Amino acid sequence: MTVTIVGAQLGDEGKGGVVDLYSDEADVVARYQGGDNAGHTVIEDGTEYKLSLVPSGAVRGKVGVLGNGCVVNPRTLFDEIDDLRERGLDPDVRVARRAHVILPYHRVLDGIEEDVKSESDQEVGTTGRGIGPTYEDKAGRRGVRVGDLLDPDVLRERLEYVVPQKRALAEDVYGLDVDSLDDPEAFDIDALFEEYREFGRRLAENDMTVNAGEFLANTIGDGGNVMLEGAQGTIIDIDHGNYPYVTSSNPTAGGAATGTGLSPGVVGGGEVVGVVKAYLSRVGSGPMPTELGGVAGDTPGYDEQGENDEDLATYIREEGGEYGTVTGRPRRVGWLDVPMLRHAARASGFTGLAVNHLDVLAGMDEVKVGHSYDLDTGEQSSPGSQNAERSEGGEEIFTMPSTTEEWTRCEPNFRTFDGWEDADWAAVAADGYDAIPNGAREYLEYLSDELDTPIYAVGVGADRDETVVVERPY
Ligand code: IMP
Ligand code: MG
Repeated sequence: MTVTIVGAQLGDEGKGGVVDLYSDEADVVARYQGGDNAGHTVIEDGTEYKLSLVPSGAVRGKVGVLGNGCVVNPRTLFDEIDDLRERGLDPDVRVARRAHVILPYHRVLDGIEEDVKSESDQEVGTTGRGIGPTYEDKAGRRGVRVGDLLDPDVLRERLEYVVPQKRALAEDVYGLDVDSLDDPEAFDIDALFEEYREFGRRLAENDMTVNAGEFLANTIGDGGNVMLEGAQGTIIDIDHGNYPYVTSSNPTAGGAATGTGLSPGVVGGGEVVGVVKAYLSRVGSGPMPTELGGVAGDTPGYDEQGENDEDLATYIREEGGEYGTVTGRPRRVGWLDVPMLRHAARASGFTGLAVNHLDVLAGMDEVKVGHSYDLDTGEQSSPGSQNAERSEGGEEIFTMPSTTEEWTRCEPNFRTFDGWEDADWAAVAADGYDAIPNGAREYLEYLSDELDTPIYAVGVGADRDETVVVERPY
């Protein structure tokens, strides 16, 4: 069977810990979208491994698959594999021949487009890994696939078609001096051919490429368990997220089918675990109706807003360690946004919830959630949501609106819960669900009711044994 792990919010929900918790019983851990924009930390026997592309299960001796929905940077792939080898592991990583390859020019173009957008404050805040430009080329039918690396003639043909276009785009449209780049060979057909043909040779030598759908279906046919590991989160899904502040793939559960070649029936016949952080965090710009305080430069209009709820924000940020792992940049934080979660639960069909970082909220007098929104409809006609009701601030809605502009005009209606005391969380995890403090259990039960989804696990600390396990999906 399959268990699919999906981020319900904006990424950074703690999916890695949930994969870790349940992958003991999996034979294969497959990623279905994204590339080296993800970041997961795996701690095994006290050793920390930071990975951005290789599925985290590979550290635990599982077969790791990068599905056809992924975009693969072979430089990152082999760096990570070599690093794991040097540290004494023998990771078994397979790559879908249908997956697309991130080439050096994709990274360059990602950077340029962000620079140009930033002149009018429209940058997305991408990770700069070339993710968007690679998916553009996939949709534009000019991409290079992993399978193409295996055949030098095909690889050369593809590069000869696409590289001159990319060079012209960089030079003629964006006025870039390609020869002065950090990677001056990023637009050089011969250099790219040599480097990527070598990657192809290594992939072939190590028998690393697969037809992902066939490989995974055979695993399941033989009675094996497959975990489908989503990266990023629902609200940065290109179709269901906060467009254009999104990544260029589908982190939602539909992506698990198209991004692996397993059928929707197989994915839907398994379990889909939605990973929810007990509060909300956001990196970079864009609306965040339940935000507390703000981060200068990221929170829209922050300077005019003053110091609203700054103490609460600081408390959550410090307790939750809400700082970028690479940049150290403070993340924006806020109360749980339930309309966002209703949207996520519908889009992916969660069969269970893993709620993380519940301990972070301990010690507060009260804990709030954004239960619904008042959408300021102004003079405009209502978007006609079935759930809409009239209320004083405009129209009360229960899920996220479809446009970023409407979302900006949403004011949350809060519900308040009694706070709960800090606890010995390792002991709580050992004793089980009933040992969770009362207020926190009410909070979880509210969430479970609103999303009509049972709680499978509750994260109460960073350590591996600080998780209250209610259900094991396999
Ligand atoms: P891209 O995926 O690099 O194109 O970035 C697009 C958006 O997705 C940006 O707002 C990134 O901050 C966000 N993003 C991409 N990957 C992650 C992730 O793993 N966690 C959280 N945000 C991410
Ligand atoms: Mg992450």
